[in-house]
Amino acid sequence: MVNSSKNKKIRHFLEIKDFNKDEILYIFERSKFIKEKFKKYEAHMPLHDRTLAMIFEKASTRTRVSFEAGIYQMGGYAINLTSNDSQLGRSEPIEDTARVISRMVDIVMIRTFEQERVRKFAEYSRVPVINGLTNEFHPCQILADIFTFIEHRGSIENKKVAWIGDANNMSYTWLQAAEILGFTLHISAPNGYKLDEKLIKNSSSDILKQFDDPNEACKNVDLVTTDVWTSMGYEAENSKRKAAFENWCVDAKMMSSANDDALFMHCLPAHRGEEVTNEVIEGPKSVVWDEAENRLHVQKALMEFLLLGKL
Ligand code: CP
Ligand code: NVA
Repeated sequence: MVNSSKNKKIRHFLEIKDFNKDEILYIFERSKFIKEKFKKYEAHMPLHDRTLAMIFEKASTRTRVSFEAGIYQMGGYAINLTSNDSQLGRSEPIEDTARVISRMVDIVMIRTFEQERVRKFAEYSRVPVINGLTNEFHPCQILADIFTFIEHRGSIENKKVAWIGDANNMSYTWLQAAEILGFTLHISAPNGYKLDEKLIKNSSSDILKQFDDPNEACKNVDLVTTDVWTSMGYEAENSKRKAAFENWCVDAKMMSSANDDALFMHCLPAHRGEEVTNEVIEGPKSVVWDEAENRLHVQKALMEFLLLGKL
């Protein structure tokens, strides 16, 4: 069943703010339902015969497996393309690629560099487009992270989250989520790697608080989270970043500044001994494996919502 959404208004998921609070909460409700069915080995196949095209211009383990397994489990199919094995790597314009692929499949997931590339794909697409990570945002990961928080601790509203390290795609996505769902984000990044002032000029000081000292940022928070010091695409800066981020390693001391029942999350892959100690990531507050698994369940709910709407 291809292009069944052709005549409906197409929704895309390129940033968290493409959805309102009710829609995000609906996705979480469906994620819970879909996860329960998965755990009971009960089939949930509302996307029978639907095809997902996945385009990877950067490496992936979790995103690839969770989208591919997710569409199969819902009765559909996946096609995997990379820059190396498609004409994208030989300079076919993204607009042309979008117009062609979206005539053949029902939904598209893209992982690439600039957000503008995903935005342009969506502009020319006949079918919903999902951002599977760009330099600017990683919205599927934040859906999984917040769903994981809710599973362990209940609503995230009015809670405090500390982001320790690079002000990267994950941190900007956390900020959008904080603005929509109503929680406070503490961010601590070294000089030169902080949030871009131009991009946060409208953020309220109730939602976003920045700290020079990462230990201060962790004080009394409900969740501590971090990510690699060098994101994909920035590898040339690796040694400079290693020196700059030396004091931004989430360790037992930082975790002890947080609330007693605080959780630790990391989108993975992790570099133990860099952004997090082995003790913390393997410790009792860490929920990183639930967080990774939940990519599968929230993305199934996301694809269901984009293709079928609220059920
Ligand atoms: N967290 C995440 O997106 O992992 P992958 O890079 O393995 O897809
Ligand atoms: N910030 C990291 C996330 C990887 C899942 C990156 O963009 O490489």
